[in-house]
Amino acid sequence: MAEFPQKRLRRLRRTETMRSLVRETELSVNDLIYPLFVTHGKNTKREIPSMPGIFQFSVDMLPDEVNEIGRLGIPAVILFGIPETKDETGSSGYAPDGMVQQAIKAIKQANPDLLVITDVCLCEYTSHGHCGVVKDGAVDNDATLELLAKMAVSHARAGADIVAPSDMMDGRVKSIRQALDEGGFENVPILSYAAKYASAFYGPFRDAAESAPQFGDRRSYQMDPPNVREAMREIEADIEEGADMVMVKPALAYLDVIRKARDTYNYPLAAYNVSGEYSMVKAAAQMGWIDEQRIIMEILTSIKRAGADIIITYHAKQAAKWLAGE
Ligand code: PBG
Repeated sequence: MAEFPQKRLRRLRRTETMRSLVRETELSVNDLIYPLFVTHGKNTKREIPSMPGIFQFSVDMLPDEVNEIGRLGIPAVILFGIPETKDETGSSGYAPDGMVQQAIKAIKQANPDLLVITDVCLCEYTSHGHCGVVKDGAVDNDATLELLAKMAVSHARAGADIVAPSDMMDGRVKSIRQALDEGGFENVPILSYAAKYASAFYGPFRDAAESAPQFGDRRSYQMDPPNVREAMREIEADIEEGADMVMVKPALAYLDVIRKARDTYNYPLAAYNVSGEYSMVKAAAQMGWIDEQRIIMEILTSIKRAGADIIITYHAKQAAKWLAGE
């Protein structure tokens, strides 16, 4: 058995060519999904103060944006809607002319090859900002299922390629699958936000999507951050109910959950590199405290190395440019 000084691990690190020969993890633009916030009105491209470089777009501004995304080789976007009106049951979320429904059509017209994924959740559309129907001050699981199914079908009808429920109600994948099949959308896959934690890292997103809960928090439906075995039960339940792909969210503080999910299930696994993770990097970069490019590529590579096949990230456009040597 060779040991030092015959064995020298540094031999394979001497040059970039040598390092690239033995590199174990490679980030690719094919792995990336870019989130888009769609708002009401016209001629609007409004930067989100807590997320520099990320904008809310009105529908008429989407074609230019998705052409750029397509040019960069990013395969998919995920849509979030910011409606003009909100109500108790989030009805603007499943209206045929809702923000996301209009956006899907505009995007498909501009760039038919780009995959359009939709976030299926009530929180952007309810006046109280919760992800389900509120009854006696609590989020009612079973009453919410029907509305989520309705929203998923309306997204599919508008042309969505994939629907992604993020509400964390029990049984939502089953109701959505059933409703899609009954509606003739048996070929539309479900990417379920299966292990979604009640995380402080969603803060900037709630500014972007104007979806902060007006009372209480989401801890009665999103997962408790210390739990990993429970995440496996969530993923298992969603797979049994018919999920085609599963997600762990957030990514960075949950790399162990990603690894465990990868080792346990043979399904495509996504990880969401969420808003707070993005904003922290941007803020530190603006202060000149970190090397932005190296930090972003290291973070995205770590998510892939932990076992994610797919990464939803606000860095997608920037990373795609760097990967292409731009
Ligand atoms: C909707 C939803 C949220 C995110 C994705 N879908 C917010 C939340 O659950 O409060 C967070 C995404 C991010 O922080 O980037 N339920």
